[in-house]
Amino acid sequence: MSDLTHLSAPIRVCQKEIKNRIVVPAMADFGMTGPDGLVNQRHIERYGAYARGGAGLIIIEACAVTKFPETRGTIGLYSDECLPGLEKLARAATENNAVSLVQIMDTGLSVMPENSIEEISREKFRQYRGDFVSAALRCKKAGFDGVELHAAHGMYLDQVIETSRRGDGYGGSFTDRLRLLTELIEEIKAVCGHEFIVSVRFGSSDLGELVKIAKAIEMAGGDILDVSTGMFSYGGIPADFPYDGKLYAASLVKRNSRLPVIGVGKIQTGIQAEEILDQGIADMAAVGRGHLCNPDWASRIFSGEKLELCRECRTCMWYIDGRKCPVARARKQAEGKKQDQDLLIGGC
Ligand SMILES: Cc1cc2nc3c(=O)[nH]c(=O)nc-3n(C[C@H](O)[C@H](O)[C@H](O)COP(=O)(O)O)c2cc1C
Repeated sequence: MSDLTHLSAPIRVCQKEIKNRIVVPAMADFGMTGPDGLVNQRHIERYGAYARGGAGLIIIEACAVTKFPETRGTIGLYSDECLPGLEKLARAATENNAVSLVQIMDTGLSVMPENSIEEISREKFRQYRGDFVSAALRCKKAGFDGVELHAAHGMYLDQVIETSRRGDGYGGSFTDRLRLLTELIEEIKAVCGHEFIVSVRFGSSDLGELVKIAKAIEMAGGDILDVSTGMFSYGGIPADFPYDGKLYAASLVKRNSRLPVIGVGKIQTGIQAEEILDQGIADMAAVGRGHLCNPDWASRIFSGEKLELCRECRTCMWYIDGRKCPVARARKQAEGKKQDQDLLIGGC
């Protein structure tokens, strides 16, 4: 077994101890949620498996703060009707001393009635903003340790940061485009309390701007910087950088901020994750598809057990049913066979 000293070290965020540096990043499985947006048993089993599997920080998939006619199969946070399911989900995702956040988001213009950020009326803009705060409060009531504002991957908050030309203080200059995000951090802290963790997932193809966004998040009182640009790659990455470009972006942010930084991007093995922390690229390592293939990724790497490796076939990506993942299917089949055998042995 290799030495995984950095990966196994706890980290304190907002009075909370996160027991190790392994993060399950937000990963929506659009095949799991019905149009009602309510949490169901499959969500509870899925996130319970990550918690029992040893990850220190579990970020629940992108959940919608506003209800639009097109829900795109996301979990909803928009009414108190969602609370009983969220409470069960919080219990499952915090089993085994895991810390758990909910990623809160609006998909943005593709599901909104407006065609551009400027077209959103002042009243609607305020309502969408308020929905983030109400959703965060529901997450707190449900028993989660915090939220992650999804300001990356072209979602609503990212659209405002990247494109807004609104004339009401929320568009145009860089500071004004960031105002919605920084106000949300401040307001969620004011409403949910300072011990309630606020992480932000963000990314920009302009690396200079990326660092400035990180600084603004820090100034506004955010607690964790989760750097990701989704499927896009960054320009300006040195040819000899040995990891995914998202990790290069994370390393720049880490060099320029005092907040803990989550790095993500094709981390498959414990040795890779340890190296990334050891080299000061990030403070925590998010392992996405590695967890889809091995919900117990953390305990496997700590015990030296063999990992199932993601084949990068992308059947899990975006609006495609995650159940098609060939590695997860093979694992389920093997588990089924083992359970049958256990039953037989038990019967003897
Ligand atoms: C099935 C799937 C769903 C995802 N859903 C989200 C999401 O809801 N929010 C988000 O910020 N990123 C999402 N992502 C991106 C992941 O959080 C992660 O950044 C990405 O998979 C890269 O990490 P990896 O190479 O370890 O898989 C998703 C990725 C996958 C594979």
